Amino acid sequence: MASQQKNVGILALEIYFPPTCLQQEALEAHDGASKGKYTIGLGQDCMAFCSEVEDVISMSLTAVTSLLEKYEVDPKQIGRLEVGSETVIDKSKSIKTFLMQIFEKCGNTDIEGVDSTNACYGGTAALLNCVNWVESSSWDGRYGLVVCTDSAVYAEGPARPTGGAAAIAMLVGPDAPIVFESKLRASHMAHVYDFYKPILDSEYPVVDGKLSQTCYLMALDSCYKNLCQKYETLEGKPFSVDEASYFVFHSPYNKLVQKSFARLIFNDVVRNASYIDEAAKEKLSPFSSLTGDESYSNRDLEKASQQVAKPFYDAKVQPTTLVPKQIGNMYTASLYAAFISLLHNKHDTLPGQRVILFSYGSGLTATMFSLRLREAQHPFSLSNIASILNVAGKLKARHEFTPEKFVELMKVMEHRYGAKDFVTSKDCSLLAPGTYYLTEVDSKYRRFYAQKAKDAGTAALANGH
Ligand SMILES: CC(C)(COP(=O)(O)OP(=O)(O)OC[C@H]1O[C@@H](n2cnc3c(N)ncnc32)[C@H](O)[C@@H]1OP(=O)(O)O)[C@@H](O)C(=O)NCCC(=O)NCCS
Repeated sequence: MASQQKNVGILALEIYFPPTCLQQEALEAHDGASKGKYTIGLGQDCMAFCSEVEDVISMSLTAVTSLLEKYEVDPKQIGRLEVGSETVIDKSKSIKTFLMQIFEKCGNTDIEGVDSTNACYGGTAALLNCVNWVESSSWDGRYGLVVCTDSAVYAEGPARPTGGAAAIAMLVGPDAPIVFESKLRASHMAHVYDFYKPILDSEYPVVDGKLSQTCYLMALDSCYKNLCQKYETLEGKPFSVDEASYFVFHSPYNKLVQKSFARLIFNDVVRNASYIDEAAKEKLSPFSSLTGDESYSNRDLEKASQQVAKPFYDAKVQPTTLVPKQIGNMYTASLYAAFISLLHNKHDTLPGQRVILFSYGSGLTATMFSLRLREAQHPFSLSNIASILNVAGKLKARHEFTPEKFVELMKVMEHRYGAKDFVTSKDCSLLAPGTYYLTEVDSKYRRFYAQKAKDAGTAALANGH
């Protein structure tokens, strides 16, 4: 049955990332990696990280408060709140319940939804839940709110430069400028051990980096084939990369995004898509007889498909890469940070365009889905969203740490993880006004936060701490 609500999707977005960051070039030199490995090899410019006063809860409090204020949404208008995160602070109490502090104050406790967790995919699960709710017969006319919040940190070693941190809040409802084409989504889910967090007293994952790359590409192929089939059934014509203006990928690091898009082009060559010219066919057809497994490890195919894909990548993917290259992997927020980059770069020309997103979470869960962009009433116009996001301003306001200081901080954070009975430095001098920060974890592991005042002083949250 068709949904009664029209144009259901994302009405507004806000991103928060810590003001503390580290240049990849400096980390590369510090780690003794060969010059260019992190910047060209992984394709990353800079990496954000939480200092000892920030965590996934403080970041999400900041993102949600800021979105509600900037779009003048009354907290009473929220009927569903879903959080995606893989950063475990508590094995039972959801991050959503911490965010309820914002809504309880206003007398709104009638809010469905909890946290969704599966590596980097939880945010997409949360978003699909909210979209489905607004499209369903149980929708009560209020907004859905989705929060993706993660701090990606790795032990010393090759994965460390693929860290990052951010929280993104998204308001969901009808008549949105960013509309879900709900029939056009395809998933691939399976059981693998590519990246997981079985060590419960450590924040660091166990990661098989190479396997995670292959799993990501396999899931991408599977979702793309499935999406192409669904499109053909619905529209009666073939789908190809040509049918969408932009492709947005979950971005653990930019090189994987380059490889992923090249993989879609290779799929289109094998599927004989009409936009593929003779030169491209000649270059890539010889690889079409490879088995799936052979093709994931074939370096010649990887190189040739990236060459063929380059002009398409520049037009359809490059505008989505700014924030993930500057912040690093934000796990659940990473895909939506890439989408925010697109809004930042192209908001003027997006109405009428189709954008395809690919969400991947290790373990593994993946979904490819389609969005249609359109003009919407103020304050939800794409240009106003881009202006409120203020990506350039936020990036410019950051403070660079040296690798030595970063490593020192990681040691403090390792010690703090899962600990109780400590107070933080409460040093919020680097934080922007209005930012939430951690002040204390008491002897019962209860966490307390304060908000940096917009003018002078601080406002405490929760139990007067
Ligand atoms: C991604 C990861 C496996 C890379 O670590 P690694 O094995 O030490 O890195 P590699 O030796 O493969 O080098 C990475 C890239 O840099 C290139 N490179 C290495 N040194 C270089 C240099 N000096 N200049 C330019 N490029 C260089 C490599 O050729 C490679 O590129 P390629 O994949 O196109 O061949 C590691 O960072 C990791 O495990 N990250 C976390 C897992 C993850 O994010 N997975 C994603 C799925 S969600």
